Amino acid sequence: MNPTRRPRRLRADGVRSLVRETDLSASDLIAPVFVDATTDERVPIESMPGHERVPVAEAVERVEEVLATGVEAVMVFGIPESKDDRGTRAWAEDGVVQAAVRRISEETDAYVVTDVCLCEYTDHGHCGLVEENAADDPTLTVRNDETLDLLAKTAVSHARAGADMVAPSAAMDGMVGAIRTGLDDVGYDEVPIMSYAAKFASAFYGPFRDAADGAPAFGDRRHYQMDPANGREAMREVALDVEEGADVLMVKPALPYLDVVSAVRREYDHPVAAYNVSGEYAMLHAAAEKGWLDLEEVAYESLLSIKRAGADLILTYFAEDLASRLD
Ligand code: PBG
Repeated sequence: MNPTRRPRRLRADGVRSLVRETDLSASDLIAPVFVDATTDERVPIESMPGHERVPVAEAVERVEEVLATGVEAVMVFGIPESKDDRGTRAWAEDGVVQAAVRRISEETDAYVVTDVCLCEYTDHGHCGLVEENAADDPTLTVRNDETLDLLAKTAVSHARAGADMVAPSAAMDGMVGAIRTGLDDVGYDEVPIMSYAAKFASAFYGPFRDAADGAPAFGDRRHYQMDPANGREAMREVALDVEEGADVLMVKPALPYLDVVSAVRREYDHPVAAYNVSGEYAMLHAAAEKGWLDLEEVAYESLLSIKRAGADLILTYFAEDLASRLD
């Protein structure tokens, strides 16, 4: 047997890099950072090794650490000093994200994206308003339309504090349109929206809910986040966000949903983002701790695969660790 077709020819050193289809660079990455108004000290996040919640006073320092690795963008999440049934601290001018972003945008060169949601700010932990008796109600649902105004107010308060981009993640219908109108009405028409457009009700968010203290006190998020079984529905969700004015389309989580990343890439010209979520990070760390996987190699391969599937940018907790090996 003597094959004439030998794909291996292009795998030799020298030519291998010439025919490489996908590049990963530090400028593709956004590093999530957690700012916590309940602490004066950095608190390690146990289920996300290497990540910490930092007090507002250290937000600038935290972002400088990210920038020093070569990563240029951060996504800011906040843990407020108090919670209530409406999530009032989400849009407070002196709220945790607003205070942190004000400093970060004044004192650093980072591109600042903020997560716009209510779940870290409501005492019930849901991403929108719920009925008063929701805890006892098995048919629990969110008050979608009344939530929209609060999300718009939150986005505006972030923009006012200096956010460069807002990223709504509440999975409410009409969320992107409401935020676009809210921003435009007060002159923030230049602030882009990165929509968590195809956001699945995923068990991979587990470690994040520890990190941001945002687990629902009762019920779950399946009545507003998407069913993991549904790929075509994801395309309808994305279409609506495009219509409502989303500038960047995000798929979340990333690795278990690369088919969706790839479908969105083929269908739209918009930049596509993928969120390599907390569970994707934690599981690789856990396996590496046991000596079963080479952490840096699997992390790199994961992000490369997310790009190959069609993502232009990746939100990832690996950003800082991997940046040094990227261009
Ligand atoms: C909602 C939000 C969540 C994540 C990002 N924004 C939690 C959720 O939807 O339940 C999860 C990110 C991760 O798991 O890394 N504010």
